[in-house]
Amino acid sequence: MASAVINYRRDGEIAVLTVDHPPVNALSRDVRSGLLEAIRQAEEDAAVRAVVIRCAGRTFIAGADVSEFDLPPQEPHLPELTQAIENACKPVVAALHGTALGGGFEIALASHYRVATVAAKVGLPEVKLGVIPGAGGTQRLPRLVGVPDALRMIVGGESITAKQAFEIGAVDEVVDGDLETAAIAAARRLIGPGVSPRRTGSLPVAPVAAAVFDDARNAARARQRHLQAPLVAIDAIAAACELPLEEGLRRERELFLERRASPQAAALRNAFLGQSEVAKVPGLSEVPARDIARVAVLGGGTMGGGIAICFANAGIPVVLKEVDATALERGVATIRKNYQASVARGTLSEDEMHRRLELIRPTLAWQDVADVDLIVEAVFEDMAVKREVFEQLDAIARPGAILATNTSYLDVAEIASCTRRPQDVVGMHFFSPANVMRLLENVRTERTAPEVLATVMKLGRKLGKIAVLVGGCDGFVGNRMLAQRTREAWFLLEEGALPQQVDAALVDFGFPMGPFAVGDLAGLDIGWRNRKARAHLRKPGVRDCDLLDQVCELGRLGQKTGAGWYRYEPGNRTPIPDVAIEELIVAHSQRKGIVRRVIDDREIVERCVFSMINEGAKILAEGVAARPVDVDMVWLNGYGFPSWRGGPLFYADQLGLQEVLAATENYCRQFGPDFWTPASLLRELVAKGQTFYQRTVLPA
Ligand code: NAI
Repeated sequence: MASAVINYRRDGEIAVLTVDHPPVNALSRDVRSGLLEAIRQAEEDAAVRAVVIRCAGRTFIAGADVSEFDLPPQEPHLPELTQAIENACKPVVAALHGTALGGGFEIALASHYRVATVAAKVGLPEVKLGVIPGAGGTQRLPRLVGVPDALRMIVGGESITAKQAFEIGAVDEVVDGDLETAAIAAARRLIGPGVSPRRTGSLPVAPVAAAVFDDARNAARARQRHLQAPLVAIDAIAAACELPLEEGLRRERELFLERRASPQAAALRNAFLGQSEVAKVPGLSEVPARDIARVAVLGGGTMGGGIAICFANAGIPVVLKEVDATALERGVATIRKNYQASVARGTLSEDEMHRRLELIRPTLAWQDVADVDLIVEAVFEDMAVKREVFEQLDAIARPGAILATNTSYLDVAEIASCTRRPQDVVGMHFFSPANVMRLLENVRTERTAPEVLATVMKLGRKLGKIAVLVGGCDGFVGNRMLAQRTREAWFLLEEGALPQQVDAALVDFGFPMGPFAVGDLAGLDIGWRNRKARAHLRKPGVRDCDLLDQVCELGRLGQKTGAGWYRYEPGNRTPIPDVAIEELIVAHSQRKGIVRRVIDDREIVERCVFSMINEGAKILAEGVAARPVDVDMVWLNGYGFPSWRGGPLFYADQLGLQEVLAATENYCRQFGPDFWTPASLLRELVAKGQTFYQRTVLPA
């Protein structure tokens, strides 16, 4: 027995080392030191002639233990282990099943032979966490498969199937039957007469033209020009071509450690770890969830149809209720078209499409929703309509059924008060398109039962969503912060900027699209309708910009009408700056008596992003979001905030809250207190020298 997480046993002259560290055999310090010890034991054991490394449970080592990344590196380091495996005096066979990723795959690469199950996947996804392989991956993989395939795997970070890995030479054997038996058989072959272990590190790297690296750098920049790790990974692979193994490994380690300590890696880790963090809601861990076996969706429009698809995709039968046959048929037709598009793309089989469509039962009868476990309402955004629907639901739904609303802005507590069971009412705010977008804001009211919250959080995960629990307020977390950015973007236009300049500055910041291009894509009428519905909330004397209304009044509703903030050539979605819009904006500024000025990109980014951060601070202080990570996960998964910045609040922490506060105060002096009064939490944290993420005390 080598250690608590490594089992050492002998099968004749073969030592079988089994890593048993659930759930995914991550390479924690115990696993590293246990394996190292076991390898040494096998080397010393005179009865042993070869070694098999395998894993218990559902997967081979699936990667590093990401939670250790924020600590100083702890001995033994992974390179020490991979070196020990490669240099072992007896052949070592790696037996791969599940996902052999990152450090797990590096252990396999350092072994002398790799056997994988048909279903196994291998890969080096380190760049996705802002680092590069740090235990020989960039030096050994090119020796095994050649530079072009190594570049593809390491710079792209995507995993490949065992079959693909076999084809390029990254694994030596793919087996259909029992993996351990096959691995032991392979080990026996390796100790046969006339056979010697092949050490990956001693293979030469097949030379390639320098242009191969230039092309890879250009392609990486074109894909995501902000990311540093892919470029560094290319440098490391280039080092494999230029340096002897030992020096190459040293170079790789240096580059790895630099990346590991970089702000981008910290941000990407936050984005990654945040996905599981948001699921652990303070106070809910012990609360049992209700069983959700059947659901109903009310309204088969844009959102209702997408939500029904989400449930069907998760294998949950769903009743889809509409008000009349025409709307129902239209809804079902859209759902069918959606599935057919997936079949045409090859991402869904015809059989699977039929199976999922059968799970969706269209109806016009209220009676059909009477005995489901959860009802998600996605009817018109109008309190009178919602009220009527919830009164009806209250009368008809079985006791204990959860009544959820998909409202974007309406008060969930008010909706709940239309029923005699407010404890069962909750918001489930899906994002459009509901079957694509990963974010789900689950909205609690003061009266929602903890059990109901636990249920919708668990259900969100089952639907493949990143579910974030938020409190009730205008726009919840996402849209409330978005409103800040939208307002500033409009103000910037009337002060001197143009849509293309604002968009370019925010794309440069890292958003995939700027707010005006996004508006054109989504349809400007959504915001226009929203402005009309909320006109009564605008306070007299408080600055307002009605440019959106003016654009919409021209019939320019975005891409769907061929023009919005930009114009579009038929059949082409590329936004083209439009003089007509420039003239409209300039005339608007003139009418308002605003002298247009040159606005630099820094101001654009600060006003659009800091206004959101300031709002995020208020959201935290009010307890609408319990933790900074909740706010960040909303923005990372629902609004395209760049993951390498970790989320708006993580970004603010990295930048320094002092800088955010100073800029906010500056804009407050310049534009007045209506929109720029610094959040008291922001002031408080700066005074204490703390960050958002250090603020661990939860509001009462
Ligand atoms: P929509 O207008 O596309 O669809 C609403 C559907 O509800 C219509 O088909 C209508 O016939 C049906 N309906 C009306 N009264 C009904 C009733 N009593 N019973 C059953 N069906 C009824 O609207 P959309 O965009 O799907 O929005 C629905 C809800 O989702 C709204 O509360 C909206 O604020 C919210 N939402 C919308 C998002 C979007 O991007 N469109 C994003 C997130 C939330």
